[in-house]
Amino acid sequence: MDSIVARLKQAAHDTAATDIRAHFLADRDRFLSHHAWFEDLLFDYSKTPVNATIMALLEELAEKAGVASRREAMFEGGIINTTEGRAVLHTALRNRSNRPVLVDGKDVMADVNMVLRAMGGFSEGIRTGAIAGSTGKPITDVVNIGIGGSDLGPAMTTLALAPFHDGPRLHYVSNIDGAHIADTLKIVNPETTLFIIASKTFTTIETMTNAMTARSFIAKALGETAVKHHFAAVSTALDKVAQFGIDSSRVFGFWDWVGGRYSIWSAIGLPLMIAIGRDNFHDFLSGAHAMDNHFRSAPLSGNIPMLLGLIGFYQRSILGYGSRAVIPYDQRLSRFAAYLQQLDMESNGKGVKLDGSAVDGASGPVVWGEPGTNGQHAFFQLLHQGTDIVPVEFMIAKHGFEADLRHQHELLISNCLAQSQALLKGRTLEEALAQLRGQGMAAEKAAAIAPHRVFTGNRPSITFVYDKLTPYALGRLIALYEHRVFVEGVLYGINSFDQWGVELGKELATGLLPVVQGKKGTDDLDSSTAGLIDALRIS
Ligand code: F6P
Repeated sequence: MDSIVARLKQAAHDTAATDIRAHFLADRDRFLSHHAWFEDLLFDYSKTPVNATIMALLEELAEKAGVASRREAMFEGGIINTTEGRAVLHTALRNRSNRPVLVDGKDVMADVNMVLRAMGGFSEGIRTGAIAGSTGKPITDVVNIGIGGSDLGPAMTTLALAPFHDGPRLHYVSNIDGAHIADTLKIVNPETTLFIIASKTFTTIETMTNAMTARSFIAKALGETAVKHHFAAVSTALDKVAQFGIDSSRVFGFWDWVGGRYSIWSAIGLPLMIAIGRDNFHDFLSGAHAMDNHFRSAPLSGNIPMLLGLIGFYQRSILGYGSRAVIPYDQRLSRFAAYLQQLDMESNGKGVKLDGSAVDGASGPVVWGEPGTNGQHAFFQLLHQGTDIVPVEFMIAKHGFEADLRHQHELLISNCLAQSQALLKGRTLEEALAQLRGQGMAAEKAAAIAPHRVFTGNRPSITFVYDKLTPYALGRLIALYEHRVFVEGVLYGINSFDQWGVELGKELATGLLPVVQGKKGTDDLDSSTAGLIDALRIS
C-alpha cells in the first residue's frame, strides 16, 4: 500500500494533475467521463482534481486495502468491529429482499422483521388514535428523548421528510442542559404526549436524566398510573428498560450489531415512522437497500459510494485537505451536516489502525456544513478566497415540493450551480482589473482594488442531483454516505465502528460532578479546571 500512496503523492504533485480548470480545457466533455448515475441519482465528480492516472492508482489502492473483501465481510455478518467483537449489520435492517443474514449461525432477518412489524402496529395505533393517552385522548405530540445516534437520525430525517409528515407533531430532546427539555415540556400537553426513550445502552446520562424529568412531568400532571400510557422505549438493553418501568408491549429492541450512528434503520426510527407512516418508512428502507445492492455489485467505475470514498481519501490523505463541507441546496436537509458529523467523525476520527499501530498520515476530515443559499451569505467567503482549500459536496433536487414556487426552485438551482462554477473558474487579476475598468474605475484605484477581487479558482467540488427528496431518495442518500465512510475507513486502515474517543470525557464528567456539587475539593485538579470550578460553583 505504501508504494501506491507514494505514487499517488507523486502524481498529485504534478500540478497538471490537480489543475481542474486545465482538465476542462483539455477535455471539453470531461463531465461525460466523470459522472455516474444510479437510478435518478447523479454523481458529478468532474470538478475534482483527478485524472486517469490518479483514478487508476486509487483503484489499485482499494484493491490492495481489501475494500471489496471487507465489504463482503460486512454484508455477511463478519466480526469487522474487532475492538468490540461485533458484526456490523445496519444493512440487514433494510434488507428488503429478506435474503438470510447470519450472525453466529442464526438468521437475523426473522427478528428484524418482527420488530419492524411491532413498530408498524404501534405507530399506526398512535397515528389513528387507537393507542391513546391515559385519559383516552389521542396523542398529538411525540417527544423523542435520546442523544447522538438515538437523536440525530430521527431528528434529521423527520425534518427532511416534512412533506410526508401527517402524524402527530414530533419533538426531539437530547441535551443534558435542562433548557432543552424545559422548553419542550412548556409546549406540550401531558394528556396527549407520548415520550419515546431512545438509547441503545439505556445508560446514557443525558437520556436517563431527561427521561426522569419527563416521567415526573407525567406523574405530576396525571398521576403515577398514567406513566405507562405515555412512555415507550427503544433499546438493546431490554432488562434496563424493564427496570425503568416501561410496559414490555411498548419496548422495541435492536441488537449490538447496530452501531448508534447507523441505527436510524432500526427501532430508533420509530418516531420517524410515527411521523410519516409505515409505508413511507418502508420506502425509506428500500432506498437504502437499493444503495446497498449498488455498492455491493456495481463495477468500481460506476460505483458511487466507492468513487466518493476514493476521492474523499485522496483529497484528505494525499492532498491534505483537512475538512470538507456538505452543502445541501435543500432546506429540509438542514440537519444533514450535523448527522454526517457523527456518522463520519465518530467513525473515522481515529489515530490507531486495526493492528494497533499509529495511523500514518491522516484519518477522517472535519465535516461541516449548512444549507445553501444560507451558507453563501456566511462562510462561502472562506471557501472562495480563504487560504485553506475545502472540498465541497453540493446536493440538490431536480424538483421541489412547492410546485407553485417553481421560480424559487429555479433560483436555488442557479445558485447551487453558480457556486461550484465559481469555485472551479475563479477570477484572474486581469479579469478583475478589466471588470473594474469596465465599470469606469480609475486605473490607479482599479490596480489597488483588483487583487482583493481575485479568486484562485481550481477549488474542488462534487455535486449530487436527485429527482425529489422522497423517503426512498433520503434512504439512498444516507446509505451512500455510510458506505463512503466505510470505504475511507478501510483505506485509513482503521476500525470505523467503535468510538472509544467519547469515553474519557464521560468518565471525567462523572468524577467532576461531586466537585461541582461542592462535596469534594479541587486539590487534585489541574489549576485551570479548579479555577473554572471556583467560578462556576453555586454556593
Ligand atoms: O457517546 C457516544 C455514543 O455512544 C454514540 O455512539 C451514541 O449514538 C450515543 O452515545 C448515544 O448512545 P445510546 O443510544 O446508548 O444512549
